[in-house]
Amino acid sequence: MNTLNGKHIVLGITGGIAAYKSAELTRRLRDAGAQVRVVMTHGATGFVTPLTFQALSANPVHTELLDEAAEAGMGHIELARWADAILIAPASANSMAKLAQGRADDLLTTLCLASEAPLALAPAMNHVMWSDAATQDNSSILQQRGVHLFGPASGSQACGETGEGRMLDVPELIDALSGLFKSGVLQDINVLVTAGPTWEPIDPVRFIGNRSSGRMGFALARAAREAGANVTLISGPSSEATPEDVHRIDVETAAQMYEAVIQQVRHNQVFISAAAVADYRPKTASAQKLKKHDAELSIELERTEDIVSAVAGSSTRPFVVGFAAETENIETNARTKLKNKALDMIAANRVGKDANAQDIGFNSEYNALHVIWTDGEQVLEQARKTTLARELINLVAHQYNKNRQHEKNTA
Ligand code: PMT
Repeated sequence: MNTLNGKHIVLGITGGIAAYKSAELTRRLRDAGAQVRVVMTHGATGFVTPLTFQALSANPVHTELLDEAAEAGMGHIELARWADAILIAPASANSMAKLAQGRADDLLTTLCLASEAPLALAPAMNHVMWSDAATQDNSSILQQRGVHLFGPASGSQACGETGEGRMLDVPELIDALSGLFKSGVLQDINVLVTAGPTWEPIDPVRFIGNRSSGRMGFALARAAREAGANVTLISGPSSEATPEDVHRIDVETAAQMYEAVIQQVRHNQVFISAAAVADYRPKTASAQKLKKHDAELSIELERTEDIVSAVAGSSTRPFVVGFAAETENIETNARTKLKNKALDMIAANRVGKDANAQDIGFNSEYNALHVIWTDGEQVLEQARKTTLARELINLVAHQYNKNRQHEKNTA
């Protein structure tokens, strides 16, 4: 599975002859659907020009820590937050030493310190430098801290010698990077996700809908797939692209979503209800387009099916995760929904504007979640929905596996 599609990759390039391979790497990352921002050390610019990477990544290349223009736009903090992963390829012996010491004397080392994204290094250096005790110690320190080392490989080197220290080839680097996004925490578990809005027809051209884009649900489907799950996604009208290897079923109304969920849910161990399902629909939808009259128009509404409650109330219920979209009293309302709908977990989000008056929750790239379950809770701070989805899937996997273990122990 290509897990790089849509990922934000910061590609760090340090001074080494293998920097020429990173031009190809940039191309292949973009072919895999990743967005790439390149950060070069001064040493690296001696081997390949920033212009090359600007053209290949279709983004400006960053080289300066104290660059006023960069600080105004994509400074090191912004880059650090933007990254889903940082890959330094080639990683020179000097850059490994600086990272092992936690130094922050250029843009690349500073952003590595400032980012919580996974960091991977593709070492590339002369084989004697690689086997030197200092470099070996540095690589052990970095690995103990959770830094991923991709390579190096053995073979003939640019210096004319042979040994261990070659940067991995581009396809190997792509594979290794892609592997960072596969957690396996839901390996072979069947997960059903709903996403997007529902549209409840008033007449053939009008409907009652809402602002849900589907992003949150689609990000969850993708994150579950990356965690090794077999994923079915039931979506209301949405322009989001179907995540790779995810089985998608399109519906329009709450009634259609209910039918599709009831049909699918028995095959699944986890159900995540991220869809913004209409609570009411017009009692009758006019067969013809309603005409404008002088008098006011009233439309009688009736309740729709509560899908997540129906699933949670079934005899062979899966692990059920609901969402709560709230504009006020978020935690209290979410706890009430957790109880009333008999859910295993609820992810509450404030919908509306954040502190910077940006849209959050509905129809936004960003969200913030307060996740509550029967005997615990966790706040997931404001972040891109792709990041939050991975964090939520980890929580779901943890609680699901804990429940399963408990059931086994008490059986
Ligand atoms: O799609 P995006 O633009 O990315 O926005 C994401 C989101 C804000 C829509 C999403 O994060 C979210 O909060 N989804 C749930 C929205 C909602 O309907 O919340 P609610 O509090 O009204 O419903 C509570 C739970 O019941 C939800 O899990 C909902 O899916 C479910 N429900 C609601 C009504 C209904 N008839 N059937 C249901 O199953």
